[in-house]
Amino acid sequence: MVEASPARILLASNRGPVSYSIEDDGELTARRGGGGLVSGLSAIGEEVDSVWVCAALSEGDRAATRQGLTDPSVRMLDIDAGTFARAYNGIANSTLWFVHHLIFNTPTTPVFGASFRREWASYQAYNRAFAEALAEAATPGATVMVQDYHLSLTPRLLRELRPDLRIGHFSHTPWAPPDYYRLLPDDVAAQVLAGILGADRAGFLTRRWAAAFADCCEAVLGAAVDRREDGTVTVTHAGRTTVLGVHALGADGDFLRERAHRPDVDSRLAALREAVGDRRTIVRVDRTELSKNIVRGLHAYEHLLRTRPEWLERVVHIAFAYPSRHDLPEYREYTASVLRTAQEINDEFGTPTWQPVILHVNDDFPRSLAAYRLADVALVNPIRDGMNLVAKEIPAVSDAGCALVLSREAGAYEELGEDAITVNPYDVIATAEALHTGLSMDPEERADRCKRLAAAGTALPPSAWFLEQYRALEQQD
Ligand code: G6P
Repeated sequence: MVEASPARILLASNRGPVSYSIEDDGELTARRGGGGLVSGLSAIGEEVDSVWVCAALSEGDRAATRQGLTDPSVRMLDIDAGTFARAYNGIANSTLWFVHHLIFNTPTTPVFGASFRREWASYQAYNRAFAEALAEAATPGATVMVQDYHLSLTPRLLRELRPDLRIGHFSHTPWAPPDYYRLLPDDVAAQVLAGILGADRAGFLTRRWAAAFADCCEAVLGAAVDRREDGTVTVTHAGRTTVLGVHALGADGDFLRERAHRPDVDSRLAALREAVGDRRTIVRVDRTELSKNIVRGLHAYEHLLRTRPEWLERVVHIAFAYPSRHDLPEYREYTASVLRTAQEINDEFGTPTWQPVILHVNDDFPRSLAAYRLADVALVNPIRDGMNLVAKEIPAVSDAGCALVLSREAGAYEELGEDAITVNPYDVIATAEALHTGLSMDPEERADRCKRLAAAGTALPPSAWFLEQYRALEQQD
């Protein structure tokens, strides 16, 4: 493995900025990802030494790590595959993700038995591996920014190893309210909170999620929460105080608008236009994710067609749901039910000249941007969502200005609620009505609202978002 030289800024996240796949001929190919953290880190500038610690997620990543192919600014941890799977699938994605998104089917799940305990031990080991790698790679007094629910124990473990570091943690998910959070076994609930409180600053995407975290600290740990008049919230536990920060990640408007007008997007836009004709469009783009509520969105569309026949033949629902977390059976079943529901709508309402739903369940970024450009109505109806960047991206990119149907349970609601048509995500009849309102909106009002949505949604682009929290952490006493 290539040893990274010690760094002054360190990032830690489960998914890193690069992934490797093994081609048919055995060669390894690298794919660089985008996203907020990548542009954030580059905004700090190359003159500052940085290291990104992440996990090897696939056989390709493991091979690249063993062959020393990753560059010195990325340290991929080759954690034992079984340990990794139990930590990532078992705890992070099947337990903590489900708790924070309130998506357990509580009469039957969760069941915290012996196999859960094995998974929990793996999650502890996985978090320890990160803490050790960070402790080794950080210069004295360095700043470490730990990301998300995969790494909730790392801040505290790292502080025990390296009390000299400035440590931040950022949650990209919602946070559960105490009554729901307490589904977790008591010791686990306490360790997750105490783990994050090992940080000097714990960041959240909205005030709502930060408040829920503070409420859990009070209810579960008996921590002292100080809610000051200027909006600052601090949590004191076991002799340490953690400041809670709120940083609302926005869309990268400049990048998206430029990217959405390149030839590969134009050609996909032409193909979509051909399929849609002169009809209106309702567009959604998501990971195939339980919390995104894609099936209820399809049912709302079905209800619209049934109760508002004036839209028959006059609208197309473009739904792109790219694959995610297919190691989990719930996600495979969910994808199947998305496909089935779309098929049922097409079978019932379709005509020889009109396909009511155009659904794709593979990933094609330029095609998603083409759909953004074509959107008359953007549908973003998650059960619960940390932020939901798509709600910010579609208004920033749509050619004619779109209406936004937005769940009040998405983090983006805090900034976009005023100009969106907001819905209770469980209420498919209300969602159908909201779609009708969006489709019927006067073009001028739609364009005005869309302009305001785009401005609010791009106010804190990823690099500014990252710098804001980095500086806040650096300036903390
Ligand atoms: C959410 C999480 C991220 C995660 C992403 C994709 O946005 O907050 O931490 O990387 O989903 O999920 P995956 O399991 O594929 O990394």
